[in-house]
Amino acid sequence: VEKTNENAAGESAKIRGALKARLEMEQMLGIESLPTKLPPKRTGERKAPFAARQTANAPIPSPFKPAPYAASKPSPAAKKPAAPVRTGNTVIGAPPELSDELKTLREKVETCRKCPLGGTRKNAVFGEGNSKAGLMFVGEAPGYHEDVQGRPFVGPAGMLLTKIIEAIKLERKDVFIANILKCRPPENRTPQPDEVAACRGHLEAQIDLIKPKIICALGGPAAKTLLNKPNEGITKMRGTWHEYKGIPVMPTFHPAYLLRNPADKKYCWEDMQNVRDRLKGVENQK
Ligand code: URA
Repeated sequence: VEKTNENAAGESAKIRGALKARLEMEQMLGIESLPTKLPPKRTGERKAPFAARQTANAPIPSPFKPAPYAASKPSPAAKKPAAPVRTGNTVIGAPPELSDELKTLREKVETCRKCPLGGTRKNAVFGEGNSKAGLMFVGEAPGYHEDVQGRPFVGPAGMLLTKIIEAIKLERKDVFIANILKCRPPENRTPQPDEVAACRGHLEAQIDLIKPKIICALGGPAAKTLLNKPNEGITKMRGTWHEYKGIPVMPTFHPAYLLRNPADKKYCWEDMQNVRDRLKGVENQK
């Protein structure tokens, strides 16, 4: 009986320990309460499991006709200043004003017709944040919410990214947030190689102007593109430092993936602690 009691006590201590670690990590990512029922089904959000989309290397046939490449009208969101976004406890404030050079580049992106996505998007999503950010996040492509608002990471994945940024004691206005693609692929499908090739120059120009000290690549497609490693998976790449034109790059899981696989948040937290510490080191050298 004594032995059984001892085993049970050990087991429950183990469970309590694991639960405590999990709650601490959730708290660090800004999650203050646990869901008690399933959220309502969303329309327009990412549908295909991220991992499944990652393995689909073959280009998916385009479901739309090519846009008239020559036509170029500025997207509607470009005209009005971005408003704050609120979901639950998370508020995404209006973004800081861009430097003049980035504004000029944004105009180019907003009238870009280098690929057919320029004809199907509602708004181009240039990216936003501090024009001299030490830390730059690079995601995959705008989704439904981003396309509607013309701002990066403002849907559910954006809410989690905002919490991740806050967990390392920064704010969205301190960092720069951009994507590989500036226009939403229909149905949030994985960016096709020709779209990535057409858009790559915009991202490279952004990085050249911002000159971040550290880049965090969010998810497989961003990491593969940025690091030119088309055959490497995010699970292998995350957690170690890579380089883009001499800038240290930390790949980590995409927030949309983490929303579907919360058990993997602990790995993202490890990566973000790495990013935070390296950024501190760089800033102390100044
Ligand atoms: N997912 C991305 O990769 N980028 C966004 O801007 C939003 C969701």
